[in-house]
Amino acid sequence: MKTIIAANWKMNKTRAQAEDMTREVVASLKEQPVTDRTVLIFPPATALDCVSKDAGNVLETGIQNIYPAENGAFTGEIAPCMVHDAGGSWVLVGHSERRHIFNEPDDLITQKVNFTLAHDLKMMLCVGETLEERDAGQLRQVLSRQITSGLSGQGNAAVPSIAVAYEPVWAIGTGRTAGPAEIVEAHGIIRDVLRILFNKDADEVPILYGGSVKPGNAHEILSLDNVNGLLIGGASLEAQSFLAIVRA
Ligand code: PGA
Repeated sequence: MKTIIAANWKMNKTRAQAEDMTREVVASLKEQPVTDRTVLIFPPATALDCVSKDAGNVLETGIQNIYPAENGAFTGEIAPCMVHDAGGSWVLVGHSERRHIFNEPDDLITQKVNFTLAHDLKMMLCVGETLEERDAGQLRQVLSRQITSGLSGQGNAAVPSIAVAYEPVWAIGTGRTAGPAEIVEAHGIIRDVLRILFNKDADEVPILYGGSVKPGNAHEILSLDNVNGLLIGGASLEAQSFLAIVRA
């Protein structure tokens, strides 16, 4: 499986800023190709079309959130057909900021997963425990619940369109990265749960780590067992920093 290096720009960048950075990243990837990795950007929805237009076959793009309906009276929401229209091929589902700031419950996340995959888009499901859950010894229970409920509607045919991102909530944007042993333990739990759902096909699902990834720690994290990629927030906002991670 190809390692996935994914940028989550969150609520950052105007269209002009997004275009500038995309051009710099694309120029670098054309000059010095990285063939064994998928490079993916989740820009804010307003910039998805311009990032997709400039992606030049070296980048994949996607949306940070979706609503599980074809269209209709859902003020502020975005439907799968609009993601296709803006050139995106991925959807990020269940990011901890969606779960915790916007109170998205597990059943809504499951609907989003199902709707995304039913509309020919690839889906990255984010999971991860809070510090309180970790301290209470609930790591396995929380990851198992989030994955089982998120992927409960999926059979093995969906496996090629699924990725999972492990993002411990306490490591996101805090500068505190999970240590190697913590990452290996969590990714191992996720692989176990995926095997319960998909048997041996589970080994084809990429598991990304996210949470304060930087150029200085990317290589070490990528070398860990069951780490098949990275999801990067803060350090993905600047071209040279993101490219350093892409090439780590
Ligand atoms: P961070 O964000 O790299 O800024 O910690 C990661 C994420 O939330 O995807």
